[in-house]
Amino acid sequence: AVRLRVREALGAREPADEVKVQGWVRSVRAQKEVLFLHINDGSSLENLQVVADPSLENRDLTFGSAVEVAGKLVKSPHRMQNMELKAETIRVVGPCDTWSFPLKMKERHPLEYIRQFPHLRCRNNTLGSLLRIRSEATAAIHSFFQDNGYVHIHTPIITSNDCEGAGELFQIEASNEARESAEKTHFFNVPAFLTVSGQLHLEVMAGAFTHVFTFGPTFRAENSQSRRHLAEFYMVEAELSFTENLQDVMQVIEDLVKTATSTVLSRCPCDVELFHKYVAPAQKLCCYSFHSYLKDFFFFFNSCRISYNEAVEILKQASQTFAFKPEWGCDLQTEHEKYLVKHCGEVPVFVINYPYDLKPFYMRDNEDGSQRTVAAVDLLVPGIGELCGGSLREERLPFLESRLQRLGLADTYQWYLDLRKFGSVPHGGFGMGFERYLQYILGVDNIKDVIPFPRFSHSCLL
Ligand code: 4AD
Ligand code: MG
Repeated sequence: AVRLRVREALGAREPADEVKVQGWVRSVRAQKEVLFLHINDGSSLENLQVVADPSLENRDLTFGSAVEVAGKLVKSPHRMQNMELKAETIRVVGPCDTWSFPLKMKERHPLEYIRQFPHLRCRNNTLGSLLRIRSEATAAIHSFFQDNGYVHIHTPIITSNDCEGAGELFQIEASNEARESAEKTHFFNVPAFLTVSGQLHLEVMAGAFTHVFTFGPTFRAENSQSRRHLAEFYMVEAELSFTENLQDVMQVIEDLVKTATSTVLSRCPCDVELFHKYVAPAQKLCCYSFHSYLKDFFFFFNSCRISYNEAVEILKQASQTFAFKPEWGCDLQTEHEKYLVKHCGEVPVFVINYPYDLKPFYMRDNEDGSQRTVAAVDLLVPGIGELCGGSLREERLPFLESRLQRLGLADTYQWYLDLRKFGSVPHGGFGMGFERYLQYILGVDNIKDVIPFPRFSHSCLL
């Protein structure tokens, strides 16, 4: 017998004798004359209907059990499905105790409920769709960069630099058992951390390959129970040499978001639709239909572009009162970001040219006053707030050197200063939070619902 995945069986053009399908039972319905099963193997949201003689029923054939069904693939008489499997044999490979199994047949479990079962929630439709979308989105992002001439770089996960200078670092040490001697203070002789961003390593590579990107795990010790922060998350980062204009960086961000999203929509429309139909409306994030969402997404991305100065003016003139009073020189809070997005008509908004003192050492001085603003850009999106952050980098040695000296970091970043001595070019780049991107395109309220395992959040530390 030919082994078929459920997706292949559903999409088959012709009937076929002697096929075999393996998967997990999503429903069992025994009638007098026939036995109906629905089988899912993770290849699609849709299940394969199995039609069998009631004599094939057995005690172990329950919701959640793993089965292997052999038989004939035939045209389905039902309008809603293309093919179904007429079973000749059904073998239960792994039974499932439905009584203690936390997922129940035909129930739409809320995300909060399934979050309690990190090891089982992938057998649920919502998480199944999410994880297929996540996989497609990962591939789409890689393709976008590869197709546009970027070289992919594996930037280190263990590093000694604090790229963002925000001190949100997880430090790495050997466990007590693995430590060679009590005297040795650090495993690597210097303090080492889990990376908060691959940017500085990407800048090294942009000095040879012109356009580079990385897409890997990033870690931040943020003491935050928020719906948009994780301690471990994935970041997409790109760095472009010979870039003098922030517009060029914004263009890449926009192209990336549009291309990746349209690829995801065309590769797994049903999975995306599930979110827009059932998940987002319940969370009141998307107040409109799937169709108009897509229309808005593509024709309306026409993002608004405002400066930080303008943003502060808009906030100061708002009728709404904020918990944090908007003031030039202060960071934009989530409430401010939300207001700005609303003010611009619930579309993505680029905010550029932030105060010099708010931003990390690597950002390029705009020279519009005495260290007044830097060429920074943040992309704010509806429902989420900040999705991307980027900037032009300070490529001028004297500017960078004096800034690092003032911060007492000139020795630490000697290698980074070297990049400005040996063939320095104007360059810029950005980082996009992958989980926030998924939240945005799917309308998911809590960031813990777009990761495969809800790490360090609930009772289970898988
Ligand atoms: O704005 P951030 O801190 O920028 C950087 O790290 C730059 N070095 C990137 C670059 O220019 N190469 O982080 C980039 C994005 C944010 O806009 C946000 O979407 C996401 O990463 N992010 C987080 N996502 C989930 N959980 C967290 N704790 C996050 N912190 C940042
Ligand atoms: Mg940022």
